[in-house]
Order: sequence, then structure tokens, then C-alpha cells
Amino acid sequence: MLREVLKIGSRRCYSYKSVRRPSLGATSPPKVEATKEQSGSSPTIENGHGSLSKQLRARILATGPIPVAEYMREVLTNPQAGYYMNRDVFGREGDFITSPEISQIFGELVGIWLVSEWRKMGSPSPFQLVELGPGRGTLARDVLKVITKFKLGAEFSMHMVEVSPFLSKAQAQRFCYSHETVPEDSQLPHYQVGTTATGTKAFWHRRLEDVPQGFSLVLAHEFFDALPVHKLQLAGNKWQEVLIDVASEGEKDFRYVLSRSQTPVSSVFRPMPDETRSCLEYSLETERQVGLLAERIQRDGGIALIMDYGHFGEKTDTFRAFKQHQLHNPLLEPGSADLTADVDFKLVRHTAETRGNIHCCGPVEQGLFLQRMQGEARLEQLVSHALPENQEIIRSGYKMLTDPEQMGSRFKFLAMFPGVLANHLNKYPVVGFS
Ligand SMILES: C[S@@+](CC[C@H](N)C(=O)[O-])C[C@H]1O[C@@H](n2cnc3c(N)ncnc32)[C@H](O)[C@@H]1O
Repeated sequence: MLREVLKIGSRRCYSYKSVRRPSLGATSPPKVEATKEQSGSSPTIENGHGSLSKQLRARILATGPIPVAEYMREVLTNPQAGYYMNRDVFGREGDFITSPEISQIFGELVGIWLVSEWRKMGSPSPFQLVELGPGRGTLARDVLKVITKFKLGAEFSMHMVEVSPFLSKAQAQRFCYSHETVPEDSQLPHYQVGTTATGTKAFWHRRLEDVPQGFSLVLAHEFFDALPVHKLQLAGNKWQEVLIDVASEGEKDFRYVLSRSQTPVSSVFRPMPDETRSCLEYSLETERQVGLLAERIQRDGGIALIMDYGHFGEKTDTFRAFKQHQLHNPLLEPGSADLTADVDFKLVRHTAETRGNIHCCGPVEQGLFLQRMQGEARLEQLVSHALPENQEIIRSGYKMLTDPEQMGSRFKFLAMFPGVLANHLNKYPVVGFS
């Protein structure tokens, strides 16, 4: 633990994704130009990620400008050159740092929250601990430690939903005693399997749909912000989609253009009844995945805890890139930087409540959630056991997570419970959310 604590200090100078975001126009749309049916612009500049840039360019030249969502999906998860697929993107050498990597207190309190809500539901056994987009596996490892410490006396298995072959190995190394890759032709719903030091089985799946049915405790930390978003703009009384085209002569790589005709997404998009924005980001993939979670929780029982930076349906333009802890132009050198967009928690909540009989709590700010979970008490306990030279490091890690000026208010928590528990949860409010 001390080693982990010591590391926090050297991480303090890193950026976490939401903070270095300048005013990219929280109220204004991106600069767009009218689309051309066929673009004849200059060749893209060669760079270290030239192959992805070339593929995208060839595709756009062949079929026309593509939605931002398609660009984002390709850049992040293209099997050969996608940003997440082949390397460690976290920490000092990477592009950003996340809460579980900043302080062990984060994963511990999330673990305690999960165990306490699971107990309130009657300690169903067996259960599945599911994590969407586990990164380096640090949150899963810290939650696993809590579960082990509490000696639940229940059977459980772990299920990681991860597209990156590289990161899936890093995760297994973080919390498994042994692991192996499952042969491609096995027809199994998982592609990697491992065993933790205490004998718990862990499985890796490419999609949430592949996680077996059963009572599940689902965690998603900084997963939804990596899901593709469509950019839409209201023109007259019609929603039009902002697309990505190859750049004009003299410009670099790619540029935004406004679709002249309706696209599949702009034609099916239905804004919320009280929508006032004239440009917004809409994640069809978020809607799909939250819908799957809602159906699963309603059918099998369980809880989902979504933790991410986001807003409640008021922001307009948050699509951005991070490279080496700095903001980066998302249209430059695709594949060399992380692409992200703030999560629309209004859409998440609305989808959960309409796709299943789901009771949602939140969103609440991360700082409040951690304080209500007695974060200060855990902080003081850790500090009292630390060497004097490490005490300030531990304090500053916790401050970074909870200070409204840092990660405390931009990051939010939303929980999904089976709707049948609504009356009970209203009577006995969920810790952290009230
Ligand atoms: C920003 S990282 C967050 C990592 C981790 N939860 C943390 O907070 O440190 C996003 C994670 O989601 C994974 N990911 C991104 N898109 C995905 C998708 N469509 N399906 C499954 N995993 C995905 C990435 O490989 C990575 O593990």
C-alpha cells in the first residue's frame, strides 16, 4: 500500500481529462464548413499514426464525410492502430491520470459502497462483479481487496468488458495470480480467463452482451466518456449532423463539415421534450449500453455505478483530445491522442428509466459522494499510518479527488437499482447519494 501511496506524489502534476479543458465553446458549436460531395483536398501530413490517418482519409474520399462517432470509434478502437489497443496510455508516460490511479481511497470507498448496497439487497449469491473499461485494472484490484477483506461468504466471479488486448493483459497482471488467452475458435463468450490469488475466476469479454446472465454489481469508471458521440446542430427546425471530412489544401489532416442532407442519426434523433440547445453531442452507443444495463438489472437484479465527468444535458461541445497531459486537437494525428466527450447524465438517467424498470440515484458530485462515504476518516487513518514525508502526498491525492476546483464537482456518480426497490430506497436513502 505504501508503494502505491508513494506513487501518488509523482503523479500530482498530471492532468486528468476534464481539467485542462479550455473554453472550447461550451455554448458554441465547432467551426464547420459546408460539406462537399467529394473532396479533392491535399494529402494528409505523415505522422507516427499515419496508417490510421491514411485509412480514414481513404474511407472519406471513397464514401464521403463520416460522423464524429465513426471517427471516434475508429481512432480509439481500430484493431490495429486504435489508441487503446496496443499500449498503456495512463500515468506519467501516458496521456492522462484517472481517480483510481490517484488514490487507493477511491477504489476502497467504491468497494465499501458496493458491498453495503449488496448486503442491503439480502446478500444475493452467487454474484458477478462486472467492470466496463477497466483500464489498468486498479479499481477492480482495490474493490477486490475490499470484498476479500469483508469475507462476504458468497460466491462471485469477475467479468471485465474490455476491447483492448493490451490492457486486458495489464488488468490480469494487476489482480490475477494466473491468466491465459482463450483460443479464437473456442466459441466461448470470453477471450481471456484468469484466477485471482484467492481463487476467484475472472473473465474478459469484448462486449457487455457477452457477460453471462446473473445478479451483477457493475462498475463503469471513465468508460462512457470514451464511447462515440454524434454532433448535431439545429438548422431551422431540422437537426443536421456535423461530419468529419479530409482537410482543405493548406490545412492539416481533417476538418468538420455540416451535412447537407439528413444522416441516419440526424433523421432518427429525438431531443428531450425540454431541450433548449441548438447544438449538442448525442451518444447512440451510450444509449445502447445503458439500455442493456437497464434490461439486465431489471431481469437478473443487480446494481450499476457509473462514474465519469459529465453534465445534465446542458453542455454543447465537449469533444476533445488529450496527449501527454495536454489538450490536443482531436482532428490531428488520429490514434496518437485520447478522444473523449463529457457524459450526458440526463440521457443516461432517461434511458435507464425508460428502457427498464430502473430506479436511479444521482448524478451526485464525486467530492460529495466520497465525503459522504467517510472519505476523511479513511484519509486520516491512512495518514496516521504513513511516514511523515508521505502524509502530505496522501492528503493532496484525496484533495485532488474531492476539491470542487479539481475533480470533485466535474466528476459525477449515478447508480441504477431495480425499480422494484424504489419505495425501499426512498425510505432508506442510498449512502453517498443523500
Ligand atoms: C479512459 S479508460 C478508463 C480506465 C479505467 N476505468 C480507469 O478509470 O482508470 C477507458 C477504458 O475503456 C476501454 N474501452 C474503450 N472503449 C471501449 C469499448 N467500446 N468497449 C469496451 N471497452 C472500451 C479502454 O480500453 C479503457 O480500458
